[in-house]
Amino acid sequence: MIKQLVSAIALTLGVPLLSLAAAPADDALVARGAYLAKAGDCVACHSAPKGKPFAGGLPMNTPMGRIYTTNITPDPETGIGKWTEEDFEKAVRQGVSKDGHNLYPAMPYPSYAKVRDDDVKALYAYFMKGVAPVNQANRPSDIPFPLNMRWPLKFWNMVFLDKGVYHDKDGHDVAWNRGAYLIQGLGHCSSCHTPRGIAFQEKALDESGSAWLTGGVLDGWFASNLTGEQNVGLGRWSDADLTQFLKTGANAHATAFGSMTDVINHSTQGMNDQDIAAMSAYLKSLPPAGGTHAPAYAYDPKATTALLAHPANDAGAKVYTAYCMHCHGVDGKAFAPLLAPLAGNPNLLEKDASSLINVTLNGTQDLVIQGIPAAYPMPKYAPVLSDQQIADVLTFIRAGWNNGAPAVAPSDVAKLRKSTQAAQ
Ligand code: HEC
Ligand code: HEC
Ligand code: HEC
Repeated sequence: MIKQLVSAIALTLGVPLLSLAAAPADDALVARGAYLAKAGDCVACHSAPKGKPFAGGLPMNTPMGRIYTTNITPDPETGIGKWTEEDFEKAVRQGVSKDGHNLYPAMPYPSYAKVRDDDVKALYAYFMKGVAPVNQANRPSDIPFPLNMRWPLKFWNMVFLDKGVYHDKDGHDVAWNRGAYLIQGLGHCSSCHTPRGIAFQEKALDESGSAWLTGGVLDGWFASNLTGEQNVGLGRWSDADLTQFLKTGANAHATAFGSMTDVINHSTQGMNDQDIAAMSAYLKSLPPAGGTHAPAYAYDPKATTALLAHPANDAGAKVYTAYCMHCHGVDGKAFAPLLAPLAGNPNLLEKDASSLINVTLNGTQDLVIQGIPAAYPMPKYAPVLSDQQIADVLTFIRAGWNNGAPAVAPSDVAKLRKSTQAAQ
């Protein structure tokens, strides 16, 4: 009797019975997909600055030229509204679009290849039912013919794409495996943090490779070494330090800037404590790799105290006193975690100075934690300081406080000034 009544009401309302029964399960799937999309940071790449979420249009540099991300909203005409789950799976895990053309690996499908079937299903449900459709046509790439031909990517995939989802590894607990799955798969941390080879391929796709997460340059930023290395890596960070960084973008050692800001703003700060703890546990298990095998960093105030007493003697100290000291402190310790310390900061100790030059020239987009932008963001010095002055001040802070990192040449500053100018 009740059943008949429900059917009658459903019929009058024009609601198919099936959807009445399926609605709660569907909502849960869409919600899980929304969370996974956060873990994958899809929004960071698939939205243009000030553009609608997931409507695409963000320019991305590849070795061959500039491409634009695509509309992945469920708009049937310009987005992926007509895509089946199979179409979606092929794009996300195999790098092949609905019409069969290969995607450039700027889309991190080499990492997403590890995402499990049930998670792909949830992501698909979210993109079909949880994302607002936006009618916005895709923009063709700026890569000229014949370099824009995509068939060579098929061979790239044959050589470099490691098909097959993540399988739990024996000898590790549930948290470690969950962390490995997130870091290697949806988190695509290695797309920035693992150095790339001459064909733009990541030199390792998991911890079995010696280059795994040892740091790499992409788009003018050096993404830090995330292994247990004690100077340039995370060796001096506790589990709690790492968790704090992923949740809030700052801790006693460093502050997020450059391309890491997007990751904190859109992805890791919204992940649950259990997943953050799992990712930290996995990263903290990585043995030291990369770096220079120098003894562990120890703070030494001597050099700077002397230099700052007579700044005229050192060109770098002079710039530091005038432009940097009121924020980063006379002792290089600043006011962590509010303001980044420079003494002992792994990014300062790193041989590759790209990130330091870039942040000094161009500042960084704001870190936004729970809706609140950073209070004292790093200013842009490109209009104020010459290449020589920036080289001087960076050389000074890379040597000061026992940081022991090599000098920065004015020519390196000039190069980055030129290559980042277009984006500013
Ligand atoms: C690092 C940047 C980046 C991230 C993160 C990213 N994408 Fe992409 N994605 C791209 C680029 C670039 C393309 C277009 C590549 C091309 O044109 O060859 C693309 C293409 C796609 C396509 C194919 C669209 C089409 O019309 O062919 C789909 C589907 C897609 N991405 C889904 C996702 C999902 C889902 C996520 C999150 C789990 C995601 N992407 C995260 C950069 C990214
Ligand atoms: C789009 C590129 C990009 C991606 C993707 C990325 N990172 Fe980063 N990351 C960077 C850059 C650049 C830095 C250096 C600047 C800084 O310290 O914030 C960095 C710094 C870090 C640091 C601080 C290290 C230090 O010594 O200061 C941690 C920890 C980190 N990333 C973890 C992760 C994890 C975990 C993921 C994946 C969930 C990830 N990153 C994904 C670019 C990226
Ligand atoms: C208004 C305060 C302020 C001033 C002045 C300032 N900085 Fe910064 N700096 C920051 C903040 C804040 C960060 C962390 C990134 C962010 O949130 O913007 C930062 C980050 C950095 C970093 C990256 C450190 C890391 O976390 O790994 C370097 C290097 C740096 N600053 C160098 C300089 C130099 C050199 C000068 C002077 C020419 C300078 N800063 C002046 C506030 C400042």
